[in-house]
Amino acid sequence: MALSEAFLCLNPMILSKSGANFGKQRNLGLAEFHYSLRRSRNRIKSNGFWSAGCCSTDIKNRTKRSSCFLRCKCQKADSVNGLTADHGIPASLSGKDSRKSVEEEAWDLLKESVVYYCGNPIGTVAASDTSSSSILNYDQVFIRDFIPSGIAFLLKGEYDIVRNFILYTLQLQSWEKTMDCHSPGQGLMPASFKVRTVPLDGDDSVTEDVLDPDFGEAAIGRVAPVDSGLWWIILLRAYGKCTGDLSVQERVDVQTGIKMILKLCLADGFDMFPTLLVTDGSCMIDRRMGIHGHPLEIQALFYSALLCAREMLAPEDSSADLIRALNNRLVALSFHIREYYWIDMKKLNEIYRYKTEEYSYDAVNKFNIYPDQIPHWLVEFMPARGGYLIGNLQPAHMDFRFFSLGNIWSIVSSLATVDQSHAILDLVEAKWSELVADMPLKICYPALEGQEWRIITGSDPKNTPWSYHNGGSWPTLLWQLTVACIKMNRPEIAEKAVMLAERHLSRDKWPEYYDTRRARFIGKQSRLFQTWSIAGYLVAKLLLANPSAAKILINEEDSEIVNAFSCMLSANPRRKRGRKRFKQPFIV
Ligand code: GLC
Repeated sequence: MALSEAFLCLNPMILSKSGANFGKQRNLGLAEFHYSLRRSRNRIKSNGFWSAGCCSTDIKNRTKRSSCFLRCKCQKADSVNGLTADHGIPASLSGKDSRKSVEEEAWDLLKESVVYYCGNPIGTVAASDTSSSSILNYDQVFIRDFIPSGIAFLLKGEYDIVRNFILYTLQLQSWEKTMDCHSPGQGLMPASFKVRTVPLDGDDSVTEDVLDPDFGEAAIGRVAPVDSGLWWIILLRAYGKCTGDLSVQERVDVQTGIKMILKLCLADGFDMFPTLLVTDGSCMIDRRMGIHGHPLEIQALFYSALLCAREMLAPEDSSADLIRALNNRLVALSFHIREYYWIDMKKLNEIYRYKTEEYSYDAVNKFNIYPDQIPHWLVEFMPARGGYLIGNLQPAHMDFRFFSLGNIWSIVSSLATVDQSHAILDLVEAKWSELVADMPLKICYPALEGQEWRIITGSDPKNTPWSYHNGGSWPTLLWQLTVACIKMNRPEIAEKAVMLAERHLSRDKWPEYYDTRRARFIGKQSRLFQTWSIAGYLVAKLLLANPSAAKILINEEDSEIVNAFSCMLSANPRRKRGRKRFKQPFIV
């Protein structure tokens, strides 16, 4: 790109520079452009060309781009966060107005969590808890954590931050990142990023903002953020639906970004199942919790992202193969999950009487599940009315734990059938004291204890029974629960949960999670002023006040998938045996 072209694309908002010695912001002229062919391996520098709406047209351009970098105003984090220097207490809680409603307080806190890049809002920090001795990476913008923030801003009519987030994180996608000598697949989105203000090329008096992404190569346990790209697609669709501005999803670089995520997820591998095969800790649960393989949360997000992407992809010849692969995967995935992950009293009884070691095409017990695996707790837990999708399915192994996000998002995305969706909500109601108790919502049920905890978590002291990922309760899950309840026309369940949360959240300073079976204690190592706890509550409130807005997140049941599904069902050996009769129009 020529310099003059680059200039035309510049966003005037970022034509400024600052530094410790520059008290005032001032505008730059053309002569002060810093046009550079430098390439940073680890960081995206403030890049005026891109942020202003110009787009690169292919992957090569995006990953091996020579960029024109701009100096820009570096906003100081503490002034942005609105934190008082003395006490580390967010300004909104400094006692100026103690009559504020919980909702007003939440909005103030959410706004204070906003992170700026070159003067533009770009995301929200994970937590603003300055009382905590170790910040770790909670001062970063996490992709998954930003989703409820982004939805809250969209519902409030504040679109810029979401647009910026979508476009800048796209810029981070597939930037060369390595762990030791290995690079993850192209199309991977980072787990999080940080805006750093650094001296500009040896000149200590001038600074510039750089975006520093983490693809898991710095994260504790080096976990791959598989869910990031899926959430990114879901947010992109929500942005278009809410604002009516389809120009973002239609951009060439955004279309390329969608395709790169899809290609990474749809790539052929060694797997026999249509579910996405991932490593442990590759989603919201980002520590070892025995969810490697085909965890439900990832499958629900995958399904949702496939549907959202299909809606947004421009129909063009070059995408035909990708769209075909996507359609095939949708059918196979929904069949697989609905059939094999579903349990209720009837199915449990079937598993209890399973024959094993069936070598044949028409085996009933396809995965060779030994009935002894049915855990004792499940016999008590399963209500007469209700059911749920299990956490994971592998050869000879069913992970019977109930994972909230996976089940809820299966409702939202229509991965679960209508009957299954109602049954999941029936179960939430029937098991209220186990799953909701004093604070919605338990991340999974039950907790791993004793020898099982030692073997599966590796004796993780943060994931002790009924804490954190191991049966802890996460207020952020309120928003997803609310969307699911609204979709099934049962908002009263979410209302009850929100009322409960409202009693504690503000008083407890918006913790990240709660501990104990009934969620009675603030989590042992829980951060306070956790942004997605705040945003999750706000989204739940906003949606309950205006349920039709939930449409921006919901995927309605697709009639083509239903047809293909019933076709597969009639060919299912459990109903009809024999491989020869298996005729269906889809390649699965
Ligand atoms: C923890 C959570 C993860 C979240 C991050 C930032 O690592 O497990 O889901 O994204 O904190 O809040």
